[in-house]
Amino acid sequence: MMRKVGLGIIGCGTIADVYMTNLTQHFDQVEVLAVADLFAEKAKAAAEKFGIRKACTVEELLQDPEIEIVLDLTIPAAHYSVNKQVLEAGKHLYCEKPLALKYAEAEELVRIAREKDLMCVSAPDTFLGAGIQESRDVIDSGRIGSPVGFTANMTCAGHELWHPNPGFYYKNGGGPMFDMGPYYLTALIYLLGPIRRISCFTASGRPVRNILGTETETEVPTTYTAIMEFVCGAIGTMTMSFDHWDTSLPCLEVYGTKGSVYCPDPDSFNGPVTVYDGQKLKGIVDAVTAPHPAKIIAMVTNQGSCKEEAKMEFAENPEHRANMRGLGVTDMAEALLDGRKSRMSAEISVHVVEALNAFEESARTGEAYVMKSTCERTEPMGKDWALWEIR
Ligand SMILES: NC(=O)c1ccc[n+]([C@@H]2O[C@H](COP(=O)([O-])OP(=O)(O)OC[C@H]3O[C@@H](n4cnc5c(N)ncnc54)[C@H](O)[C@@H]3O)[C@@H](O)[C@H]2O)c1
Repeated sequence: MMRKVGLGIIGCGTIADVYMTNLTQHFDQVEVLAVADLFAEKAKAAAEKFGIRKACTVEELLQDPEIEIVLDLTIPAAHYSVNKQVLEAGKHLYCEKPLALKYAEAEELVRIAREKDLMCVSAPDTFLGAGIQESRDVIDSGRIGSPVGFTANMTCAGHELWHPNPGFYYKNGGGPMFDMGPYYLTALIYLLGPIRRISCFTASGRPVRNILGTETETEVPTTYTAIMEFVCGAIGTMTMSFDHWDTSLPCLEVYGTKGSVYCPDPDSFNGPVTVYDGQKLKGIVDAVTAPHPAKIIAMVTNQGSCKEEAKMEFAENPEHRANMRGLGVTDMAEALLDGRKSRMSAEISVHVVEALNAFEESARTGEAYVMKSTCERTEPMGKDWALWEIR
């Protein structure tokens, strides 16, 4: 049997629960050896709930020689300093998104990691789920031709409606782009490759929010709408908003020279993937020999027949593990054991942080931001991954 990789978790808040459930009960590649939090009682409660042998301070956790990977689940404003401590202690790092708030900080972290030969990546790991893996397979197989466009949208009324401690979402480093953008950017980068340019507008639709009963002024814009160009040539739009009560916008669609792919929500691990076969429609219309109006009728009536749900070759997961957070850190542990690269790369994590700041900068200057960093699309999961994850 393969040995388990020792894992330490810093931050025992809202999202820690699903991570700890999955990493102590469902994923076999790691063993959670210790948990820490600014508040000792939170670490203690988490250790008790999940049967983890040690609840301690951050410093004690980082001194534990059995811990090889540290999972940082603190709030975004704490990521840079916690992550730096983790790397300086010689531990591999997997951080909740984003890796850092500033591009220079993210670069510095990756520089430290390279010097120490450590892995240094950030969430999300939702792109490792069946939905985005299948979408990548559709694109790579050429079914939609070369990607030329896309749209990516996450619009909701605001996280104060559900989060038990929502203040940080409206402070610097929060907002819909920093919070939700990483899911959509990571999926887009994984599907299309690196970004070339970003042009963005921002707005604050409701600049005073009720945070735990107190009317609070927001520090960050709450709607971002951007136009983006990828190095592969695809151009598209991205809207992230905490101002929209409802929407019928798609989460993520990619348009190619031969067809389109409708992808599931990149903030989830699963969901159906639908392919629109433009060549089929062209064939139907070309076969109509009658003049123009008949071709229009053929086109309109046959639209539906050109859409097909992709056969999910990447098996969807059983319901109880639908939220598979922890898959990324597990992939990292397996990469460590197998001497391969992890599927989330330091370069993608940094590219995402640069992009998050680029939206802000473009909105501020009124000019398109040209990306400085770049990255490569990482390897897809093997199609036997459903077996892999329960090993
Ligand atoms: N809540 C969600 O649904 C959700 C989903 C996906 C990702 N995330 C991400 O997970 C991270 C945490 O979010 P959350 O919602 O769990 O926040 P939270 O505020 O509920 O929990 C954060 C925890 O980190 C601790 N902490 C903060 N600074 C610390 C420090 N310097 N050292 C040690 N502990 C520290 C806090 O005491 C708290 O227990 C964020 O990066 C967020 O973007 C959250």
